[in-house]
Amino acid sequence: MGEFVVHGGHRLEGAVRINGAKNAALPIMAAAIMAEDPVLLHGIPRLRDVDVMTRVLQAVGAEVHWTAAHDLLIDPRSIQHYAVPLDLMQEMRASLFVTGPLLARLGQAQVFQPGGCNIGDRPIDLHVQGLHQLGAIPYEGDGILLLQCSTLQGSDIHLSYPSVGATENIMMAASRATGETRIRNAAMEPEIVDLAQFLETMGAVVRGAGTSEIRIVGQKELRGTEYTIIPDRIEAGTLALATAAAGGHVLLQNCIPDHVPGLWGRLREIGVEVREIDAENVEIIAPDRYKSASISIHTNPYPGFATDLQPQFTAFLLKVPGVHLISERVFENRLGHARELRRMGAQIVADQRVAMVYGGHSLHGAQVRALDLRAGAALVIAALSAETPTIIAGREIIERGYESLASRLQAVGADVTLT
Ligand code: EPZ
Repeated sequence: MGEFVVHGGHRLEGAVRINGAKNAALPIMAAAIMAEDPVLLHGIPRLRDVDVMTRVLQAVGAEVHWTAAHDLLIDPRSIQHYAVPLDLMQEMRASLFVTGPLLARLGQAQVFQPGGCNIGDRPIDLHVQGLHQLGAIPYEGDGILLLQCSTLQGSDIHLSYPSVGATENIMMAASRATGETRIRNAAMEPEIVDLAQFLETMGAVVRGAGTSEIRIVGQKELRGTEYTIIPDRIEAGTLALATAAAGGHVLLQNCIPDHVPGLWGRLREIGVEVREIDAENVEIIAPDRYKSASISIHTNPYPGFATDLQPQFTAFLLKVPGVHLISERVFENRLGHARELRRMGAQIVADQRVAMVYGGHSLHGAQVRALDLRAGAALVIAALSAETPTIIAGREIIERGYESLASRLQAVGADVTLT
């Protein structure tokens, strides 16, 4: 497994351009399955997860290839297989996103129950419940989920939890169902809105995306299209927190401030200057030193504090003198990075859901491991201000969600190399 090697102590100065959003690209790539003609996507990040989704689409029969650095052409016209190979399901839970589109195109879909991961069990009951309400009959056994339907019929679906993936899977299937579908207690993340806007360019009728109630009027056909996805708000937040932790002054280009509502106010509260230059550029200026504070964050579905920024924010708080509370309310086990941070001298105690961070103490380098991509990003952030070198194992895990992270950090002054 490859490594990130970080020599801390360098301020970050300069500009970084944010890439397209991984968590918008994956459902939108899946939705392309439903088009009658080719789909050209712009702003697609070069990530391991995007490569896996490309292989999933090719496995069911689509032709997929890059036409430029971040432009992906998907031709769904030769799709004929309804089963996603086990190895691809095991590589990435988001392979599940093709279930709704395959049902819409072929009347059946077979996936494997995605295993749990480091951050939680990750059940798929809300996906199955929603697709079942649209008329798909589920057959489950030996870890396989087979869904079959003669036609998809619009329905009134209430989600017991605003699951991002379940909302997306149901939206996609509903866009090709007969009649109207209402999704209540829907997820409201910006990636939901991006998927809705993409579906509408294909001819779908989707109303209310971004609110807790989404209505979809199914269409007989969806056409090919060309679309540019939104920037990655989690990458933007990660780089903002890296600047706040390492010190310095960095311009985040192609960053939509409104997509991370729970972050900028907290950073300002702690003494970081956040300048919203315009709708797509944010400047981060770290103070020379942090005053003592007592910060608490609780992760919640959007527009609450993003769970995908919790590990990175935890690593940043190690720089802020005082006692801080982290409450992870979305996933049942997303504080594993606390153990790795302790190897670097961090004073942090945690159980599965709550961590106490005693900030303001110096960190030293260590051999640590990325447990998942956001935990890995947290280790990079901590290492940027550690007094001795840090070796982070799991380069491939971090690269699932961050394109060229090392070279982009180097470009603003960090000493980060890869092995
Ligand atoms: C999406 O995962 C993101 N992944 C995750 O980002 C993100 O952390 C998560 O949403 C929450 O914002 C992609 O978009 C590819 P959920 P998803 O369904 O859809 C429970 C990253 O780092 N749940 O909203 O899987 C589940 O166990 C990744 O980029 C059920 O109980 O998240 C969890 O506790 C990590 N039953 C909670 O809901 C279900 O059927 C939130 O999960 C589905 C989910």
